[in-house]
Amino acid sequence: MAFDFLQDKDRIFTNVYGFQSWDLKASRQRGDWDNTADIIKRGNDKIIEEMKASGLRGRGGAGFPTGLKWSFMPKESPDGRPSFLVINADESEPGSCKDREILRNDPHKLIEGALIAGFAMRARAAYIYIRGEYIMEAKVMEAAVKEAYDAGLIGKNAAKSGYDFDVFVHRGAGAYICGEETAMIESLEGKKGQPRLKPPFPAGAGLYGCPTTVNNVESIAVVPTIMRRGASWFASFGREGNHGTKLFQVSGHVDKPAVFEEAMSIPFKDMIEKHCGGITGGWDNLLAVIPGGSSVPLVPAEQIMDAPMDFDGLKDLGSGLGTAAVIVMDKSTDIVRAISRLAYFYKHESCGQCTPCREGTGWMWRVMEKMRDGDADIEDIDTLYEVTKQVEGHTICALGDAAAWPIQGLIRHFRPEMERRIREHKGEEMMEAAE
Ligand code: NAI
Ligand code: SF4
Repeated sequence: MAFDFLQDKDRIFTNVYGFQSWDLKASRQRGDWDNTADIIKRGNDKIIEEMKASGLRGRGGAGFPTGLKWSFMPKESPDGRPSFLVINADESEPGSCKDREILRNDPHKLIEGALIAGFAMRARAAYIYIRGEYIMEAKVMEAAVKEAYDAGLIGKNAAKSGYDFDVFVHRGAGAYICGEETAMIESLEGKKGQPRLKPPFPAGAGLYGCPTTVNNVESIAVVPTIMRRGASWFASFGREGNHGTKLFQVSGHVDKPAVFEEAMSIPFKDMIEKHCGGITGGWDNLLAVIPGGSSVPLVPAEQIMDAPMDFDGLKDLGSGLGTAAVIVMDKSTDIVRAISRLAYFYKHESCGQCTPCREGTGWMWRVMEKMRDGDADIEDIDTLYEVTKQVEGHTICALGDAAAWPIQGLIRHFRPEMERRIREHKGEEMMEAAE
């Protein structure tokens, strides 16, 4: 059955390429801040119910149901402590670049979303934690927040709703691990950005020990549109359990790398044909795809073609949708070298607080370098796989898994290539010894 591509009238992000201004006047013309008070007057629980009905799953990578997450926040303030919303704009996953487009081209969608989400979960304020390298985006965000304050849309009696709500922009300092929600909370508190053990989850004890929800930029920026068009409209896109529209980011060996909004569950091949002009050198030239940012295992060409681009479809292939950062690799790619480079990234970004990750990422990287050069033994492949299993699931945060999974994917699908390099290298060594 042919896939129904998203039509222009159904797009949420109509300024994703920045053809129009990001400012308040232009944002209002695009429909933002239109009777926001009416949405707020529906009441906290009604908004949360609507979010649950929309089927929105978190857009930061994990895909946890957004409305359910909000419902974990307390209805009554425990001990008079305030509640907070933290917006994760520390977009650092290799391949991910969608939140940047929202921050710099549609900041008012995020601020309005923060107000509605913050109200629903009874939060006193939102902190937008922006990746340190996003300098221009932080400047736009700060200017947009000022505009919103000046127009009475946030602050006291925000948007004439009777609700007081502050928004603060906070800049990170360039550490990937601060994108992990509890490391982000530590960083906001002025401490070294290191993940906390969960539970307790942030809804129980988050920022300054107060109830906190951490949501991704895209998850919050779609909230006003869901409230205006209705949960059933959003839920009409995508398959059961994978609803909505989504910003996809495609990089690598396609004719036109791009960020674009599409309906969830679009088949991979249709998506690349429609939005990216096909694979460089044609479809026969496709080698493999990392479909969800570098933390998920790669999928070989023959398996990905008809795969629905959603959480469950990619999970069925042993991978994941993650942030929907699709990295396309054609046959010119040195796949062992590519995964070895990712191993270096995770080793570099490990915060070092737990042993399997601190020692394991360094060990995996060093062995991957040897695999890259063919300077290993065939049995080392099994040992490498075993070590990834020792790291996976044995660490405080998901960085350990993220370091293990790409290597597991490589071994699962490209073991013959790893073995070939080792044999070739050994052959060269023997030739040299014979000379
Ligand atoms: P997670 O699955 O542990 O949690 C997801 C969210 O659900 C969290 O906010 C957590 O607090 C909440 N949650 C889960 N179980 C809960 C429970 N029982 N009670 C209350 N709340 C609960 O995943 P995590 O570690 O937050 O995210 C990992 C993902 O992040 C990876 O899959 C990866 O794709 C993505 N990622 C994204 C990056 C980016 O730049 N956007 C960077 C690095 C990773
Ligand atoms: Fe730090 Fe790695 Fe442990 Fe996460 S898994 S807390 S990054 S050492």
